[in-house]
Amino acid sequence: MSNETMIAATGENQVLDIEKIRNDFPVLQRMVKGHPLVYLDNAATSQKPAAVIDALVHYYTHLNANVHRGIHTLAEEATAAFEATRDVVRSFINAAQREEIIYTKGTTEGLNLVAYTWGRKHLREGDEVIISGMEHHSNIVPWQVVCEEKNAVLKVIPITDKGELDMEVFHQLLSERTKIVSVVHVSNALGTINPVKAIIDAAHAKGAVVLIDGAQSSMHLDIDVQDLDCDFFALSAHKMLGPTGAGILYGKSSLLEEMPVFLGGGEMIKEVTFEKTTYNELPYKFEAGTPNIADFVAFKPAIEYINKLGKEKIRAHEDALLSYATEKIKETEGVKIIGEAEQKASVLSFVIDGVHPQDIGILLDNKGIAVRTGHHCAEPLMSRFCIPGTIRASFAVYNTLAEIDLFAEALKKAIKILR
Ligand code: ALA
Repeated sequence: MSNETMIAATGENQVLDIEKIRNDFPVLQRMVKGHPLVYLDNAATSQKPAAVIDALVHYYTHLNANVHRGIHTLAEEATAAFEATRDVVRSFINAAQREEIIYTKGTTEGLNLVAYTWGRKHLREGDEVIISGMEHHSNIVPWQVVCEEKNAVLKVIPITDKGELDMEVFHQLLSERTKIVSVVHVSNALGTINPVKAIIDAAHAKGAVVLIDGAQSSMHLDIDVQDLDCDFFALSAHKMLGPTGAGILYGKSSLLEEMPVFLGGGEMIKEVTFEKTTYNELPYKFEAGTPNIADFVAFKPAIEYINKLGKEKIRAHEDALLSYATEKIKETEGVKIIGEAEQKASVLSFVIDGVHPQDIGILLDNKGIAVRTGHHCAEPLMSRFCIPGTIRASFAVYNTLAEIDLFAEALKKAIKILR
């Protein structure tokens, strides 16, 4: 990509050297079916820079030991590397204390943890839980399970034709019976950025707590959990240039302290007898069993990489990619964009008249272009738009305008073949 294109993509004062960034991601150098890979499936998982891959190799080559359990050198070094990530995450999301950073397998586990511990403790018959119509299944199913068990009621904020939350209805749904509001920050299927600050303030005014699904937002938006004043916030490392199998649940310590335990096992206990078990302090109370140690160790360089580029510059570049792709796709005959919110991040979802999304996905893959097709684990949202699924292109900081040109060109050809 030329320098002019890079500057155009990021704004004059916000230049990122995209070519240099691309060189940091080994997989971007590969060919797929005879074509250079064009990876536009970043909402499913981001690619990993060499710093992250090197950290994994370094860990298994030099440090591998279990954490918090040994007094030998390897165990101490592994524990220090594992715990160092907690401090980096604390600062990344501006949590008040490192004890509020719970290691999980990913966002899904974080959401389940809140539903099965906080939810089971606090929900009573007739209480209400509010989610939205654009939730990922991982923020629907756990609440359905707990609501059914507790005879609580699940309420859903409807979605407008543009793919935004209907905030007027949200305010009507909120009541003294609302105990928790659990909503997605950025929709994985539409790219909509939800007004979570307004949701949190309104929910708190009714005495409800708020859980934010930050799986898609944590890479793209500045996250300050103290400023948001959310009670819980869940994220996944793999959507933020880090490894799979590592995630974070942030919770206010006052809430985490009084919550019952989630998984039982090693590490989460203080003392075990057959008569009674007492539990470890935060954050370990929620971290039973041997964790994905290497993956947490390698999450640190991922965050450091994001910090080095700067969220503002990443966002400016991704916004430029999204606007450019949106304009290009709109030119294509028969295309309907699903999700035209005023505030969007990095996701372009669309359908094409008379063409099945999966067929497009296959033909794009033949040109080395990776997109996701289907319901994106958000079936109720697809029903809302009366579609089985969409074609979704999702962008990251290493994507270029030139790749979007290739994508748009390949899309036009695919449509021609399929019609
Ligand atoms: N939730 C991920 C996605 O949106 C897997 O693709």
